[in-house]
Amino acid sequence: MFRINVNFLKPGMTLAKTIYGNDGQVLLSSGVNLRESYIQKLKKIGISSLYIDTRETADIVIEDVICEQNRFEAKNIIRTTMNDVYKGRSIETKEIFNAVSNILDDLLGNKDIMLNLSDIKAADDYTFGHSVNVCVLSLVTGIAMGYNRERLEKLGVGAVLHDIGKIAIPIDILNKPGKLTDTEYKIIQEHPRLGYEIVKKHPSISSLSAMVVLTHHERYDGTGYPLGKKGEEIYEFSRIVAIADVYDALTSDRVYKKKALPHEAIEYLIAMGNNQFDGDIVKKFIQHVAPYPVGTIVRLSTGVQGIVVAVDKNCPNRPKVRCFWNKQGDTYLNEVEVNLANLPSIKISAVLEKLE
Ligand SMILES: [Fe+2]
Repeated sequence: MFRINVNFLKPGMTLAKTIYGNDGQVLLSSGVNLRESYIQKLKKIGISSLYIDTRETADIVIEDVICEQNRFEAKNIIRTTMNDVYKGRSIETKEIFNAVSNILDDLLGNKDIMLNLSDIKAADDYTFGHSVNVCVLSLVTGIAMGYNRERLEKLGVGAVLHDIGKIAIPIDILNKPGKLTDTEYKIIQEHPRLGYEIVKKHPSISSLSAMVVLTHHERYDGTGYPLGKKGEEIYEFSRIVAIADVYDALTSDRVYKKKALPHEAIEYLIAMGNNQFDGDIVKKFIQHVAPYPVGTIVRLSTGVQGIVVAVDKNCPNRPKVRCFWNKQGDTYLNEVEVNLANLPSIKISAVLEKLE
């Protein structure tokens, strides 16, 4: 399978990964042949890219690092939790702890974690999907930093709840397509404090997790909010979640911006290491996030196009690519796999949105 922009979908193409709706129902099953009406519906619900199978790519499988069921349940718990807060009810902390523990079981059972970004995100599902992604990205970083299970669980709970204060921010400000006014920006900047007020009412939530909610927008150079803390004054958990939060926000489509590609977001984090972010933690983070995930269509400096089939943790910038050329109708007559790790003279020159 490979990932393609929805604008280049054609009727008859075969869907490679099942697409789920916001409440977990199957919208389209893997293996289905797309029709024009399905393509229009996918565009309408804000899905910008998805996975397609062809004869040449059917053996390329992209496994999510956490199972579909655990991802779905975690999203659901965040939805329920925010709804409870909105209605003034207390939150079910036990269910949140369980969801984090299940995600952690999946991650710890996966020795060589490399995140290949296989979650298909619909625009209106952003907050819940984002919370789970930030939790996964933070935990993967915590594992790379050698945290024990107890610390990982506290980190995960803080990460999954980090934006809970957004429930108190008007939705039209959160999703405003244009530039925010100073007043609107100040209102958004209230969400860490509002979230902290919510979680600190629950003694079963560790103060370390609660601090993530309060300080995930602090920046290493002191330019963040709400406290303006800098460097090591910011709790380590919050320095991790800040990186995960920005990475996932950059790589997601929002109503006000088009998403960045994984390698672009990684370059941004590296450039901002030791300015906005803790550079040592950025190094741990990027060890497990693929800049060119499996299934990405790329053009090489030789001019040939291909699909990333494997990413080696020791050389993530130089994946193995299955190259295609000589197209006749819908079929490519030639294909060969090249491992860029062994071919220093060949580079990835572009990421493409469709096979050309
Ligand atoms: Fe936030």
